[in-house]
Amino acid sequence: MAGRYPFPASPNGWFGVAASADLATGDVRAVSYLGRDLVLFRGEDGTARVFDAHCPHLGAHLGVGGRVCGDGITCPFHGWRFGADGGLVEVPGLDRPPRTGARAWEVCERNGRIFVWHHAEHAPPSFDVIGYRPDEDEWTPWRATSYSVRVHVQDLTENIIDRSHFSTVHDMKPPAEEQFEVRFSGPSMVVEQRLSVTAVSEVGFEVSTTSTTCGPGIVAVEVNQDPLEMLTYITQTPIDDELTEINLCFSMKRLDDDAATESISAMNDEITNLQFTQDVPIWENKVYRERPMTTKIDGPVPQYRRWFRQFYSTGDVLPEA
Ligand code: FES
Ligand SMILES: [Fe+2]
Repeated sequence: MAGRYPFPASPNGWFGVAASADLATGDVRAVSYLGRDLVLFRGEDGTARVFDAHCPHLGAHLGVGGRVCGDGITCPFHGWRFGADGGLVEVPGLDRPPRTGARAWEVCERNGRIFVWHHAEHAPPSFDVIGYRPDEDEWTPWRATSYSVRVHVQDLTENIIDRSHFSTVHDMKPPAEEQFEVRFSGPSMVVEQRLSVTAVSEVGFEVSTTSTTCGPGIVAVEVNQDPLEMLTYITQTPIDDELTEINLCFSMKRLDDDAATESISAMNDEITNLQFTQDVPIWENKVYRERPMTTKIDGPVPQYRRWFRQFYSTGDVLPEA
């Protein structure tokens, strides 16, 4: 993002690094997010863990050939064994291991995804990952699609309140009954709106949605319109200085009719992915205007940006000229 945005690529918050279903007990994966190389594994106790990738000994990547051992992991190079908290517990052939370890990240597994807490100054988590679908068995399994896009996470969620692009980019007509309310509450921004989606039918299909962000890395869009209960759950994680990985996940409460559940899921998934891809060329080629010339028909862009500043550490954001 060097030069493109006046703040760092990775704000402070919870960021998705994998789907729970993709990490079985004993699995080890090499992943790169937040500008770091990481190792992600599931210990024999069933807990997902994330450590800095490179061994403090001679620098091997723990995620490439490393093996789960108990609740921790063993390095593939000289067999140093790290415990659940990343601390070194065994060096083969040595009575007492030196006091060192691999840096363990704070991990939260919720809503079928694995999140890490990132903070530029290593402060502990200041909020929780909001839980959804407590009655998970009554919901369809996630349908998930992953994208890698050249855009900052701050620009991604600014899109939610950028109401004047809905008609031009997404071909949405204003609904018969207009509603667009934005609330900022701690690490969450809550947007309640009525949408008319013309992608489905010429006349438009009206829905009320509630979009709730949870820090800079998570967005949940809920539709509760009897008999429909649907959730689009989006995780957005900076990969490096240029790219962000976005996962669009969709689930709905099963209806009595399986065929109807399936066709509504498929249609929603299609609309969500279509709308997302409509934004991509704009995001990848836009610049960040620090002092945008907004008008009364735009959403509350300046308020949104002021709210977002809480996710940067002091000194992260360049002072305004
Ligand atoms: S590099 Fe990991 S044990 Fe030597
Ligand atoms: Fe959009």
